[in-house]
Amino acid sequence: MVVVMELGYGNETINFDSKCEGMFWLGTKEPRFFTHARFVMSTTVTRYFLSGKLKLCHHQIVLYGTSAASSKNDIYVVNLRSDTFTLPTSSMKKAMVEAHLGDDVYGEDPTVNRLQKECATLLGKDAALLIPTGTMGNTAAMLSHCHGLFEEILLGDQSHMHFGEVGAIATLAGIHSRTVTNKCDGTMDINELREKIRIKKDPHYPQTRVICLENTHNRCGGTILPLNFLEQVRDVADAHHLAMHLDGARLMHAAVAQEVAPCEIAQYFDSVSMCFSKGLACPVGSILAGSKDFIERALWARKALGGGMRQAGVIAAPMLVALNEIVPHLREDHARARKIAQERPRMHVTDEEFEVLGERISVQMMPFSDTLIRFVTYYGITDKDVDKAIKKLQYVLTGRKRDSEPNSSAFRDKSPLQ
Ligand SMILES: Cc1ncc(COP(=O)(O)O)c(C=O)c1O
Repeated sequence: MVVVMELGYGNETINFDSKCEGMFWLGTKEPRFFTHARFVMSTTVTRYFLSGKLKLCHHQIVLYGTSAASSKNDIYVVNLRSDTFTLPTSSMKKAMVEAHLGDDVYGEDPTVNRLQKECATLLGKDAALLIPTGTMGNTAAMLSHCHGLFEEILLGDQSHMHFGEVGAIATLAGIHSRTVTNKCDGTMDINELREKIRIKKDPHYPQTRVICLENTHNRCGGTILPLNFLEQVRDVADAHHLAMHLDGARLMHAAVAQEVAPCEIAQYFDSVSMCFSKGLACPVGSILAGSKDFIERALWARKALGGGMRQAGVIAAPMLVALNEIVPHLREDHARARKIAQERPRMHVTDEEFEVLGERISVQMMPFSDTLIRFVTYYGITDKDVDKAIKKLQYVLTGRKRDSEPNSSAFRDKSPLQ
């Protein structure tokens, strides 16, 4: 049995034969990948790794069976690393080709204008603005909210804005970020949040202007913030005359899961950014929504950040399609994710993968932290994929096949959109 595990950065192969005795030193310079791998192995089949190889490559964990390491052609690959792997649907491509276009920097692209209007209505705001990416949307939002020097925002220590946007808020917007500890469900302690606000005029302190939340919360496991938490934070913001911004990259996912209209979530925020390239199958595109004044300033910020686009209707057209054709199916992605989570604990132990499973399956995941691996279901991941992933995971984690084949009867043999 050779188990190959790809993770982290670098591109080296390490033979475990003589190296490990229950502990695994992967030779990577990234400690979190080391501990992460240890987590995988401690829950996994240490004996397979002892006789196997470990391959480090870019940003993924892949567990292969015996001969899978040499030939990937006959492997059924289930890519659960990120919902950014979605590909545009054929109706999106058609919409791009047929879109009515104009110069959007002059505000004259009819498809962009239609998208912005629809999104403003959807989110219950005065206006909306097409932005190329989520990172640019969040940065433009902070530039629009903060008006001068010596200002700061409050945001979760696990938030994407703080963790995964290259410090753009500091570098490009010149704004100081003060973090509040994220609880594991993505919320924060309200008292800690309140204590971190700095509005006293004191030349030692930057002035707090904005509270930022993230929903769904990526690094906290795709968790959804409860509406009563949003209400509590709004009360704190109002009491101190602060703006609230939502990094709602996956706001539609939260709304669908909570069975509320997106504007019911957005109502607690002065500004909302939402991505269409994550799980909504668009190749590119985000929306920033807020008051007329806010969006007017954001327009300047977008231009300054290099996001003024010309015939941007080619981007807006698939986003309009996504609202009609992909959003109604998010419920199925949620069900598939839940199925993987629920099946995981029911795993048993046995032997050789190919002999046991009768096929070779590769499941791609994303290491997030010492104790967290990310699996994401999204447009393009089918019930068949989920069944294969479960089958493989059960074997890897336990060494055994389940007594019966997994069966995603809810949406059997259907692609997410058919
Ligand atoms: C929660 C969240 N916000 C913002 C972003 C940034 O989006 P983009 O990659 O389009 O800049 C991401 C990206 O994954 C995200 O997960």
